[in-house]
Amino acid sequence: MRMRMWVLLLLVLAPSSVNGDTDQSHASALRIMYQGLNSPGQLTKWTSNGGDPCGDNWKGVKCSGSRVTEINLSGLGLSGNLGYQLTSLTSLTNFDMSNNNLGNEIPYNLPPNLQRLNFAGCGFHGSLPYSISLMTSLKYLNVAHNQINGELQDMFGKLSSLSTLDLSFNLFTGNLPESFSLLSRATDMYLQSNKFTGSIDVLADLPLKNLNVANNKFSGWVPSQLKNINLQKDGNSWNSGSAPPPPPGTPAGGRNHGNMSPSSTKNTGGVNGGVIAGIVISILVVGAVIAFFLLRKRSRKAHTDVEKMENQPFASLASEPHGIQELKSVQASIKAFEIPSSVNLKPPPLERHKSFNNDDISAKPPKKAPTNAMSYSIADLQMATNSFSADNLIGEGSTGRVFRAQFEDGKVVAVKKINSSAGAGIGISGVLSETFMDIVSDISRLRHPNVTQLVGYCCEHGQHLLVYEFLKNGSLYDLLHQSDECSRKPLTWNDRVKIALGAARALEYLHEVCLPSVIHKSVKSGNILLDSELNPRLSDCGLASLVPDADQELDSIAPEVSMSGHYTIKSDVYGFGVTMLELLTGRKPFDRLRTRSEQCLVRWATPQLHDIDALAKMVDPALKGLYPVKSLSRFADVIALCVQPEPEFRPPMSEVVEALVRLLQRTDMSKRTLGNDVRPHDG
Ligand SMILES: *[C@@H]1O[C@H](CO)[C@@H](O)[C@H](O)[C@H]1NC(C)=O
Repeated sequence: MRMRMWVLLLLVLAPSSVNGDTDQSHASALRIMYQGLNSPGQLTKWTSNGGDPCGDNWKGVKCSGSRVTEINLSGLGLSGNLGYQLTSLTSLTNFDMSNNNLGNEIPYNLPPNLQRLNFAGCGFHGSLPYSISLMTSLKYLNVAHNQINGELQDMFGKLSSLSTLDLSFNLFTGNLPESFSLLSRATDMYLQSNKFTGSIDVLADLPLKNLNVANNKFSGWVPSQLKNINLQKDGNSWNSGSAPPPPPGTPAGGRNHGNMSPSSTKNTGGVNGGVIAGIVISILVVGAVIAFFLLRKRSRKAHTDVEKMENQPFASLASEPHGIQELKSVQASIKAFEIPSSVNLKPPPLERHKSFNNDDISAKPPKKAPTNAMSYSIADLQMATNSFSADNLIGEGSTGRVFRAQFEDGKVVAVKKINSSAGAGIGISGVLSETFMDIVSDISRLRHPNVTQLVGYCCEHGQHLLVYEFLKNGSLYDLLHQSDECSRKPLTWNDRVKIALGAARALEYLHEVCLPSVIHKSVKSGNILLDSELNPRLSDCGLASLVPDADQELDSIAPEVSMSGHYTIKSDVYGFGVTMLELLTGRKPFDRLRTRSEQCLVRWATPQLHDIDALAKMVDPALKGLYPVKSLSRFADVIALCVQPEPEFRPPMSEVVEALVRLLQRTDMSKRTLGNDVRPHDG
């Protein structure tokens, strides 16, 4: 399990005001990084609250215009973690954190467009994150002198710019991955002092000038192509005598094709094997973290209040006609949004939000509210939805109806009208305004590219509404099951994998990045919305407390939930598996119109998931046989793990994400190295 995730979540604070030259998302990533590093004094000018990294010359930060392009904090004795928002640093090309004491694992979320990444001597353990495989601009990668272990995944296929790779002085095991042979610009490779095994044949045709493979467990012969470069090879068990001539017509990398299947079987086994230990560890860790968090929250509360007050622009409000009332209201909201409160734990004591009754948030929304969620008036929303007319109804779920709303300025949003009966699940009859504001506060903090973004709310006259960004392509359910087949292009196989991966990342975020974990409770294709490029966004995140326990449709619900009514992150994983099954088969989770044995999708499909021929018959006919067979069967393997009846054997979402990323990678690889892997549908 990823302990680092839990630890870095201690540091989530309410968003602070932003001013200055630096791109907001870049500045925010740096502030979160600063908090993660425990706000060290040696980072002069840095602050976790406001400040302007580019304008104020933060130590080690270089910018181009408003964009952060370089961070070099090498050898500053830093400890802690790098925060969870590094993916926002889209202009960063040079990232040097070498020789610090970061410990833990290398974060999965890294700046995506790096050219140079130096994590040497950081005390990292665990494995190399698969996200590195997507950094196609990478020229220099150095993770030497850490304790990184395990086998290298086949993750180098797209790194065709990489010229220097330094993995030396770690604990890597296993054979060199096949995709090393695709590092067509590699001139310098340092693999010394690990526990690599097998031959180094995959390196034979690379344009290497310097190669150090000393002190490993390599065997076989040194390829003749490497004999005239600067090669260090002592401390291995090379075969003596001269190398046998290669069999005629064998390309250098050819021998490895058989490697992939065994390693994938092994990985799949690993998912199960580690789960029990993982659960035990995570329970201990979560317990400790919650205790720590509560203590820390208590001791910091007074201090944070003051800090927050100082950072709010009261002056401008006070001069306006309704200044005083708004001021009160802003102060109240500051309290409400102050510190992450629980999402799934018990609701906080009610008196904390006493000031939040309907009169406080009247038709005048507080300007510059301390979150990005705006307060809307019911009158505005009524106008924008044509009085919530049936024409504007775009969806209906167990928590309420969703309407399309268009404001006078042309802006389109989706408005969710919370059912007055919702909330029964947490034992309150009807939604109390206080509880509602807690929910708004919690979901306004959820920020992830694959999670629908809350833009506002309305809490007036006993009505409770949530305002979200509007997504053009509707829900995955509609696209798969209700689109008019003539009018719409069916989803391609790649679209489907991409949608599954995005949705998996959203759940990984809710389960493993948020603290406390956010259980979604209602993971299904109807809650996966798609933007105009078919990027998925998980909707209804943070609304679990409004989902009635008894009232869930039984289609995609985990067996233990239908028996006990008790939801866990593992019941979300099950719902995700069902969604993947819908993607694979194009069938609804439950379809009355089919013959009895085929009505329940999970029951019908799971016994056949490991049978390639059965799979070819199960796959959505709309794909017309256009899918890579291997990719299909790996997709099916992931499904089989997710829909296991025993919740404890279902993998954590981070493992699902990694499996799907690997699957995408291998599909690409097989296109390049094995020729066309697509075969026509033969069922
Ligand atoms: C970062 O700074 C260190 C020491 O100040 C220097 O040796 C190193 O070359 C710098 N790294 C990069 C990538 O510029």
